[in-house]
Order: sequence, then C-alpha cells, then structure tokens
Amino acid sequence: MEYLTNFIEFSADDHRSIKNASDLLQPLLSTITDVVYDKLFEYDITKASFTVEQSGFDGPIKSDLNEAKVTDPVIVYRKTMLKKYLHKILNDELGPKFTKYLYWVGEIHSNTRYKTSSSDVEFINLNALTGFVTAALMNIINDSTQASWTPEERNKTLIAFSKFFWIQNDTFLMYHAILQDKVAELSRAPPKAESSPNTISSYGPTAANALLGFGIGAFLTMAISKLFK
Ligand code: HEM
Repeated sequence: MEYLTNFIEFSADDHRSIKNASDLLQPLLSTITDVVYDKLFEYDITKASFTVEQSGFDGPIKSDLNEAKVTDPVIVYRKTMLKKYLHKILNDELGPKFTKYLYWVGEIHSNTRYKTSSSDVEFINLNALTGFVTAALMNIINDSTQASWTPEERNKTLIAFSKFFWIQNDTFLMYHAILQDKVAELSRAPPKAESSPNTISSYGPTAANALLGFGIGAFLTMAISKLFK
C-alpha cells in the first residue's frame, strides 16, 4: 500500500481534503448506503452475496434469491456497517490502524482461510461498486453549494477521493489477483500437466503487473482530472 500511496501521491493534503468533506457527506450517509444497496439488489450476481452467512450477523438470512429483500435485517445490518466504513474514511486519522482496516475490508470480501464467514465477492463486482460509489461521491461534491469551497478546493477534494478509492480498490484486487492466472489458464488448452502454483507469491510477475497497471490507471485518472480543473 505504501508503494501505491506514494506512486499516486496521496498526501496529508489529500487526507485533509477528505476530512473537509465530512460536513457535507456525513448527513447524506444514510441516503448513500440506501442507493448502494438498491444498486446491489438490481443484479442477481451482486444480490446473491447477501444470501450466505456473513461475519458479525447472527440473524436470519434468506438463501433463496427471490425471497431476499433490501429491507431484510441482514441488509439493515450491512447498511449500518457501510455507514461505519464511510464515517471512518471521513474521520479517522491516517496510520497503521487505518491501513490495517483498509486491508481488512479487502480481505472480508474474499475467501482467505483466515475468514470465519463463507462470503466471497468477485473482483468484478467490487470494482463495479467502487466505480459507482466514487462517481456518486464526485457528483455530490461537484453539485454541492458548499459556500466555503473555492473551485480549487472542490477540485482537490474530487482528486483526493478518486485517489483514495483507487487505493481501497487495490486492497480488493490483491486478495483476488490470483484469479488473473486462473483466467489465463482457462483460456489455454490443453491444461498444464504439472500441478499449478497456488500462492500469490508464485504468481509474482502477474500480480505485480496487475497492481502496476492499477497504479498507472489511478495516475492517469488524476492527471486527466487536473486537465479539467
Ligand atoms: C466500494 C466497494 C465496497 C465497500 C467499500 C464495501 C464495504 C464493506 C465493509 C466495510 C464491510 C465490513 C463491514 C463490517 O462488518 O464491519 C463489508 C462486508 C461485506 N460486503 Fe462489502 N463493500 C464493497 C463492495 C461490496 C460488494 C460489491 C458486495 C457484493 C456484491 C459486498 C458484499 C459484502 C458482504 C457479503 C459483506 C460481509 C462479508 C462477511 O462478513 O463475510 N460488498 N463491505
């Protein structure tokens, strides 16, 4: 994370810009989480993630996709936790504890053997929602009539959130990067005779390329945003 943070130049100044958006975003957290879960319930593939056991929730879970509703207790719980996440982004101090939390958020959506729950969200869905949330926040910031923001401050805030979500998305990717080789393997026939390596480090070059590509993507997004300021 240190490499990516340095590469895309996420600075203390960016962090200040995020915290300065707290007054604007804090009252909207309930609306934002409602919109997020309405979006996740639009598609069976994302809705399905909420029909399996999840850590920290002991209540009823409907395993039938057609029965699951956005008003179910499990979704009310998920919304509370998403609100807590957004609250932390807006208020927590940077440091090892916060970094650990960001990694944990990445891991909780994967199926590492350290997890107690069985949920496993595919990267395509995590990436999709990260894009959706980033765009939603940018729209809110752009449209707000926050009197205290100069155009420059508003632009800095947009850039800071963009950088932050690229960093969070990297934590989603790193717990799923191994899939890259799985996809490549599936597209080649016949399958390799030897047993395949099964650790992230065995996939070093591929995972590293994916992460580097990610960093360059983030950097280009920032450069383009600067052009439009
Ligand atoms: C912007 C992307 C996302 C963010 C920031 C996010 C945030 C979070 C956070 C903070 C938690 C842990 C809450 C806690 O217990 O404290 C969580 C758990 C969870 N999220 Fe997400 N999420 C994202 C995308 C998704 C997507 C796309 C899905 C499903 C399609 C999903 C499904 C889940 C599930 C099922 C859990 C519970 C995991 C378990 O306990 O095993 N999330 N999410």
